[in-house]
Amino acid sequence: MHRSFRLAAMAAAAALSLPAAAQFAKPEDAIKYRKAVFTVMASHFGRVAAMANGRAPFDPKVAAESAEIAQMMSRLPYVAFIDGSDQGQTAAKPEIWKERDKFNAAATKMQEAMAQFATAAKSGNLDTIRPTVGAVGGACKNCHDSYRKE
Ligand code: HEC
Repeated sequence: MHRSFRLAAMAAAAALSLPAAAQFAKPEDAIKYRKAVFTVMASHFGRVAAMANGRAPFDPKVAAESAEIAQMMSRLPYVAFIDGSDQGQTAAKPEIWKERDKFNAAATKMQEAMAQFATAAKSGNLDTIRPTVGAVGGACKNCHDSYRKE
């Protein structure tokens, strides 16, 4: 019993010290992971965007919570663009692996816009939130135009 506990603890410690790419046993796992993250992020961002555009009634509590989730998600997908995951059930363009610095810069830009959006969403004021929604949407589109297939 002790021995298996020790092994489990060692495995956990080893997992923590592994590089991000080692989280995924196979390229398909990385693809599934990043798509799932993008889907959750888009869903929560979209809820607030609908309020900002007048397509849904403004609920300050839901807006703040959704923005917080979207921001958390915005940090996750990029470690999952591991080597070999340009093939398979993916809309990622091969350029990502050729111009990683530019791709990462587009990711950072979106994360910064998302942080401002999440802060604004805590204000409870739709006029404060609205411009930050536009900025996030622009940052999503900017990357998709270059790095996501139609
Ligand atoms: C730095 C680049 C980049 C940014 C920024 C970005 N995306 Fe994406 N997004 C991608 C790529 C690449 C894919 C394709 C992933 C795949 O198929 O493996 C993708 C896929 C998606 C998908 C489809 C997921 C699926 O199930 O296939 C959605 C939805 C999405 N993004 C929403 C967003 C939203 C919303 C934002 C902004 C808040 C955003 N993305 C910002 C690069 C980006």
